[in-house]
Amino acid sequence: MKKVTVLSVFLFLLISILSAQSGYNKREQSGISFEWKIIGSQLQIRLSAPTEGWIAVGFNPSRMMKDADYKMAYVDGDVVVLEDHFGTGNISHKKDSDIGGTDDFQLISGSESNGTTTVEFTMPLNSGDEMDSVLSPGDEVKVLLAYANRDSLSRKHSRRTSLIINL
Ligand code: HEM
Repeated sequence: MKKVTVLSVFLFLLISILSAQSGYNKREQSGISFEWKIIGSQLQIRLSAPTEGWIAVGFNPSRMMKDADYKMAYVDGDVVVLEDHFGTGNISHKKDSDIGGTDDFQLISGSESNGTTTVEFTMPLNSGDEMDSVLSPGDEVKVLLAYANRDSLSRKHSRRTSLIINL
């Protein structure tokens, strides 16, 4: 009987640990839901906002929007577009691949329904691209979140916010 109890407790703990590891961390701010989890050398992200336009996350600006590593996405019908951008100025950004960098992400899924856009993707913690942030588990990271009411990535956000997380 004792053995069964010990085994049950062990299994319960194991399942709890495993499910905690597979779950996302979550923050919600300005109507934007930002979820993240680290899987090996990758950061997996789920981003959701009340818009049919673009949604985006940015990491570690030096000032305002400058020098941040952005992943910007929109859903247009069946097509999900995800782009890697870099903060070229306080209020500007450019596609990494237009300024000597590379696209560093793996799109998992994207959807637009009932006025909400959601995308899920992974990005390397350290892509080796100068236009991307170098992230490590446990780091304190400044995260920018924004969305616009249009798909066009040159359209300014209708809402934006920033927060600090511990990876
Ligand atoms: C075409 C795209 C974008 C344009 C034209 C744009 C433009 C601007 C402008 C003019 C400001 C200063 C005025 C204000 O506070 O509203 C600003 C601030 C800001 N933007 Fe953007 N932005 C763009 C994309 C993004 C993206 C993708 C993010 C984050 C994922 C972002 C996050 C922010 C934040 C957090 C601020 C406030 C910065 C501060 O005051 O410290 N922006 N943006």
